[in-house]
Amino acid sequence: MKQIIRTALVMSIGLMSTQCNTAQQPTTAQQTETVEPTQTPTARASSTADPRMRQFVDSLLSQMTLEEKIGQLNLVSVGFDVTGPVVSQNVDENIRKGNVGGVFNTYTPVAARKLQEFAVNNTRLKIPLLFGYDVIHGHRTIFPIPLGLSASWDLEAIERSARIAADEASADGLNWVYSPMVDIARDPRWGRISEGAGEDPYLGSEIARAMVRGYQGDDLTKENTVMATVKHFALYGASEAGRDYNTVDMSLNRMFNEYMPPYKAAIEAGVGSVMSSFNDINGVPATGNHWLMTELLRDKWGFDGFVVADYTAVSEMIAHGMGDEAKVGELALSAGVDMDMVSEVYLRHVKQSVDKGSLSEEVVNTAARRILEAKYKLGLFEDPYRYTNDQRAKTTIMKPEYREASRDIARRSMVLLKNSKQTLPLKKSGTIALIGPLANNQRDLIGNWSGAGDWKQAVSVEQGIKNVAGNGVKINYAKGANITDDEQMIKRLNAHGGELQLDKRTSEQMIAEAVKVARASDVIVAVVGESQGMSGEAASRADIGLPGKQRELLMALKKTGKPLVVVLMNGRPLALPWEDQNADAILETWFAGTEAGNAIADVLFGNYNPSGKLTATFPQMVGQIPLYYAHRNTGRPFNGDLLNKYTTRYMDVTNEPLYPFGFGLSYTSFTYSKPQLSKTSISPSENLEVSVQVQNTGNYDGEEVVQLYVQDVVASITRPVKELKGFQKINLKKGESRTVTFTITPEHLKFYNNELDFVLEPGEFKVYVGTNSRDVQEASFTVTQ
Ligand code: BGC
Repeated sequence: MKQIIRTALVMSIGLMSTQCNTAQQPTTAQQTETVEPTQTPTARASSTADPRMRQFVDSLLSQMTLEEKIGQLNLVSVGFDVTGPVVSQNVDENIRKGNVGGVFNTYTPVAARKLQEFAVNNTRLKIPLLFGYDVIHGHRTIFPIPLGLSASWDLEAIERSARIAADEASADGLNWVYSPMVDIARDPRWGRISEGAGEDPYLGSEIARAMVRGYQGDDLTKENTVMATVKHFALYGASEAGRDYNTVDMSLNRMFNEYMPPYKAAIEAGVGSVMSSFNDINGVPATGNHWLMTELLRDKWGFDGFVVADYTAVSEMIAHGMGDEAKVGELALSAGVDMDMVSEVYLRHVKQSVDKGSLSEEVVNTAARRILEAKYKLGLFEDPYRYTNDQRAKTTIMKPEYREASRDIARRSMVLLKNSKQTLPLKKSGTIALIGPLANNQRDLIGNWSGAGDWKQAVSVEQGIKNVAGNGVKINYAKGANITDDEQMIKRLNAHGGELQLDKRTSEQMIAEAVKVARASDVIVAVVGESQGMSGEAASRADIGLPGKQRELLMALKKTGKPLVVVLMNGRPLALPWEDQNADAILETWFAGTEAGNAIADVLFGNYNPSGKLTATFPQMVGQIPLYYAHRNTGRPFNGDLLNKYTTRYMDVTNEPLYPFGFGLSYTSFTYSKPQLSKTSISPSENLEVSVQVQNTGNYDGEEVVQLYVQDVVASITRPVKELKGFQKINLKKGESRTVTFTITPEHLKFYNNELDFVLEPGEFKVYVGTNSRDVQEASFTVTQ
């Protein structure tokens, strides 16, 4: 019965995708293109592309027993970083038996070499292991959390961060990293929004490509490159109600136009591996979803690397209700999930499944081939110890240039959300009241998933201010509040490395002390926000305001009448309407990494003029979620008339975000001319140029992210009111102006229609150019039949 239901589901989605290839054409589509795999610019070698690899792997496979092939599909955790409830057992014995294809959570050249020697010297065929790890935003030198990195809109900087992470990781025994995470996320309750590039598929795709390039370089066999893993395939960011590991359910239209593009972009960039997601898709868990893992990923997109299940995602299909261990193992492997992370279901059951005929040996051969090919691509058969060079570790890891790069990239990721009366930048003189639970904190700065990062190396805000402002500035410090006073929450956070200490004074006492300090100072810098463990995996929040008594603290500080600068640290968009109305300046710094304090001080004192822009909408209140700029128009759009009841709106809050996507201020100001189009009418195969003059009209040199959005006004399906289709980060000296030109290609105007054809539908289009998704100027053009 269960089997029948599953087949029916797969078929129904399969039917949609089959239609793409039939002669059935949409009536309005003039330009139709079936989704075809694109050849990749970066390191990519497939069995067809490299005959030597094919020959090598064929010969190896022919010598392997079924058990040895199954062993290659088993990934075990060896080490201390555990991201799930179960840990791998009997590792030594399993390696010796040839039951292990790769390990993760083991690093340092010494540890990795030891384990690699053990595998190579104790197994019949001497097949080396893969060494994987969650290198998420830096390996030892930590960069801002990915949501922060994305806010730089600086692809070169993002690629550089991945390049440095790869250099350090590969010097530290690793050859495979579990990044980039490209899940589109539009619900800031979901803690893992911190790990991705925010809400937009176009920006997310650009960042996915940049990260794959950074990790893999142009040659995977080099000792300083690593294989990347795009995750979590697919749609994990759309967990219902923002609760981690929850159900996902969405239309194919939304799936292909809004959620799939970044995964596809990573595949096109040549990513070596893909990680499955925990959620289901159209009722079938991603990890057992043949349509997803084979029909779409391989047959349509042409992916030729290997797929690894997320942590125990194979065995978790039992709880999803897909069958017993043996059954879910068959489901995952035949869906196209090649490697089983931690659950060891393949190890325990696949042989019996093959013996009794419920799984074909061909499926095992294919999966084993993919794992062996990955090892070949990494050069491990040539030299299993390529990534275990102790000398290189000593000269590479956390070298001064890398710390300097971290500081530079961190500055670029910060977003100035408010700056009234030019409160910022601060003068390098006078007295600062430095207040808040995150003001002299180090632990939180490197975020909750900083792999091998050492928080004790992180520069606190207090230290950063001292370093940047020097002796001219006197700092008066008070903690003012705990991040949270909820003892249960603190216990949970500390169980996962939180290091939170509850100040035993009452909140009144702490606030009174802070107010006293503020009164004796010229300006208040309040460093507030979340603890790192409040975002990330298994860290969803239903209330996304400042936790604990931090808002009360800010309210009391406001009453002193001193200028109030709020420095935020957090892993998600927060709802901060009071703070927006009452602070004089607000600087969003995310969790900015090893050099956080120096980078924050660089921005506060104007050594760096902020240039970051939000990549996820900040709502006014949690009830507006999901709130994102690229929404579709309804039949009853809200037109601003509050007396008009029957439009799409709330009774108690407007539809506006607190800060829109793309928003971020600078210490200088930029003015934009109206966009000029090269033509007002183009054919479906023509490009269009859009130019805009941007001038720096303020008092500082500065960088601006010039943003281009497009709207397809009439189409066969409802289309977003705006979609990002281009951006350029430019540097303008005070007074300078520049013409910025974008080229809109037919690709930018296409979308997946309800037959899942990628089409350009002729008709009217609008172009919007501006400093964020809200403050834009428009022009229009038509695409002729
Ligand atoms: C996470 C993945 C991660 C894996 C390995 C899982 O819990 O979802 O993102 O790569 O663990 O640590």
